[in-house]
Amino acid sequence: MPVITNIDDLKRLHERRAPRMFYDYAESGSWTEQTFHDNTRDFTDIRLRQKVAVDMSGRSTATQMIGQNTSMPVAIAPVGLLGMQSADGEIKTARAAEQFGVPFTLSTMSINSIEDIAEATSAPFWFQLYTMKDQDYVRRLIDRAKAAKCSALVITLDLQILGQRHKDLKNGLSAPPKLTPRTVANLMTKWRWGIAMLSAKRRHFGNIVGHVDGISDTASLGSWTTEQFDLTLDWDKIAKLMDMWGGKVILKGILDPDDAKMAVKLGADAIVVSNHGGRQLDGALSSIRMLPRIMDAVGGDIEVHLDSGIRSGQDILKAIALGATGTMVGRAITYGLGAMGQSGVHTALEILHKELDTTMALCGEKSIADLGRHNLLIPRHFSGDWQD
Ligand code: GLV
Repeated sequence: MPVITNIDDLKRLHERRAPRMFYDYAESGSWTEQTFHDNTRDFTDIRLRQKVAVDMSGRSTATQMIGQNTSMPVAIAPVGLLGMQSADGEIKTARAAEQFGVPFTLSTMSINSIEDIAEATSAPFWFQLYTMKDQDYVRRLIDRAKAAKCSALVITLDLQILGQRHKDLKNGLSAPPKLTPRTVANLMTKWRWGIAMLSAKRRHFGNIVGHVDGISDTASLGSWTTEQFDLTLDWDKIAKLMDMWGGKVILKGILDPDDAKMAVKLGADAIVVSNHGGRQLDGALSSIRMLPRIMDAVGGDIEVHLDSGIRSGQDILKAIALGATGTMVGRAITYGLGAMGQSGVHTALEILHKELDTTMALCGEKSIADLGRHNLLIPRHFSGDWQD
């Protein structure tokens, strides 16, 4: 067992232990993967300002996101198919999140269901919604999230149609995996995964199978999206969904200042500046590069979260210092899960926390509320010379 000291170590172990098609699903972006790579690379353009001779005792990374306490400005992002990275992966991730004191978001495209998470945890979790053509199904999904006492609805706005990911098509991604000579050959090298999967509570999309007519047990995200997702989703429909829910709403997938202003107008509690981890519009600017423009447009009017590209505590600090209230982390958590199950998720959270805490100290800061642009050295044209 290798010594794990950073998120990259977890990623390598994830790659070794999870079936190829699921590791590839996590570790890919759409088309050329330009935006996927920019998301992480652009963080490195921002540098930190070192401060010395500052009393750094009594530091804390604790803060709030949408009024809820969190041990650091991180919520676990909604990630599809966690239960294929590791048996009952959503339950394991939600339990680790609860233990660590950060919010967990369950994806519509999860393997464990809303009810499984409610049963396995006591902290309220967030539910991420994809809107479907079948309005009755959407209503039932929202009712199920209410019954499970979810404390926020995260409505994803940037995936009504799927950005093509070449690896998923080539691998024939599905849940559970279809048995072909190629997948069987790969699964035979993943004995640890296979044994655990035999006793998993679920092996198919738990929020969908059994709740929608005509959905087979072995489904692919691609075919489901094409058949079921609602292409007509617009601001009016988003407002109706918000009404139907009646609780806290986070609008995820905002990358444009005017869209951010619409979210404010609708009365959302927060937005997530996100390009879906580079999995949707390839060629879009990275989230961190867009964050200053979004802050200029709506900072102070709405809580702003950021995802896409966060792999370290330093990245978290940079996003907060640029004005975000919190971040959402998907891949770093998924690597932990695929590497070591629940303890791997815990390890990922611990790594992020330690990096954030130490970096705060070296920047001379004791609390999240004190972070700001004064902590950063930003290239003059960071937000771009691009013309609108
Ligand atoms: C689904 O949300 C995905 O990006 O695969």
